[in-house]
Amino acid sequence: MSQNILVTGAAGFIGFHTALRLLKAGRYVVGIDNLNDYYDVSLKNARLKELSAFKNFIFIKEDISNKEGMEKIWSEYGSFKEVIHLAAQAGVRYSIENPYTYITSNIVGHLTILEMCRNTEGFKHLVYASSSSVYGGNKKLPYCIDDRVESPISLYAATKISDEMMSYSYSHLYNIPQTGLRFFTVYGPWGRPDMSPIIFAKAISEGSKVPVFNNGDMKRDFTYIDDIVSGIIATLEKPPTLEDNNAPHRTLNLGNNKSENLMDFISAIEKGLGKKAIIEFLPMQDGDVKETYADIKETTALTGYQPTTSIEQGIPKFIEWYKSYYK
Ligand SMILES: NC(=O)c1ccc[n+]([C@@H]2O[C@H](COP(=O)([O-])OP(=O)(O)OC[C@H]3O[C@@H](n4cnc5c(N)ncnc54)[C@H](O)[C@@H]3O)[C@@H](O)[C@H]2O)c1
Repeated sequence: MSQNILVTGAAGFIGFHTALRLLKAGRYVVGIDNLNDYYDVSLKNARLKELSAFKNFIFIKEDISNKEGMEKIWSEYGSFKEVIHLAAQAGVRYSIENPYTYITSNIVGHLTILEMCRNTEGFKHLVYASSSSVYGGNKKLPYCIDDRVESPISLYAATKISDEMMSYSYSHLYNIPQTGLRFFTVYGPWGRPDMSPIIFAKAISEGSKVPVFNNGDMKRDFTYIDDIVSGIIATLEKPPTLEDNNAPHRTLNLGNNKSENLMDFISAIEKGLGKKAIIEFLPMQDGDVKETYADIKETTALTGYQPTTSIEQGIPKFIEWYKSYYK
């Protein structure tokens, strides 16, 4: 029988799509999620309903920071030799109001996953979510994997840098192959209601004001979900070796390698919905950065990752889902 693969955060946006791709490829997937109410739980349940149609899928509601619970899962369904770890408390802005959640899920939770992998004989590869926010207020663009990441401008970013550090040390100490993927603003069907694409689509459809920060002077390397999933799976198949970095650990950027003007992104959503936005220009928010742009040369060289979806192609697919889900 094919080995079970563990996907944490399986009810989340990226975890759902990753699990779906693996299930369609015939992999046996165990999904974990604590189904917290950071955003609408019914969306998480609706994603799980799609996954549950597959016989090769098992879902377990658990908190990754609960060591005993995780050990139980590992002994019942593991030992997992491949883990895609996407569960985290996401969101830059929320971390200003709710700092402790970030430490529990992103630091203690990450440590628990590392401990599980450490105690798994013949462990193959842990692929975990980092974020473009680790680049903080760096001025040099595009963001390159060798750039220094020591100035996080939100607690969320600080937890993601910490995860990378913790992972490096565990790789070094216990020879655990790991890759940290720095995702750049992911969008697409089944996306997160706290992120700009759904916030914009909802406001435009309802005819309410669209909040646009820094007076619209922002750029983002928007990355379509299918490209992200292709990158995660391509990475999983290429575990780093001890020779790579004095430890079998590496970090890679997963972006679209194209920084889009926020106002162009909004125009594409307006076009998809056939309705004009009522823009409300607002000042820059704490913890936010003006521009993101991913250098993906190393990712492409090591994994073959090559994003193919422009916003002109991706936004209509997102809008099609948005209209059918929120009808
Ligand atoms: N979406 C993006 O643009 C983006 C960008 C950079 C990094 N990331 C990272 O990618 C990963 C996935 O993000 P997403 O957009 O799918 O977010 P998401 O919030 O949709 O998914 C995360 C899932 O993890 C679950 N979770 C949170 N804390 C948990 C815990 N302690 N135990 C078990 N489950 C827990 C949540 O219930 C949620 O379903 C996260 O690590 C996030 O930080 C995402």
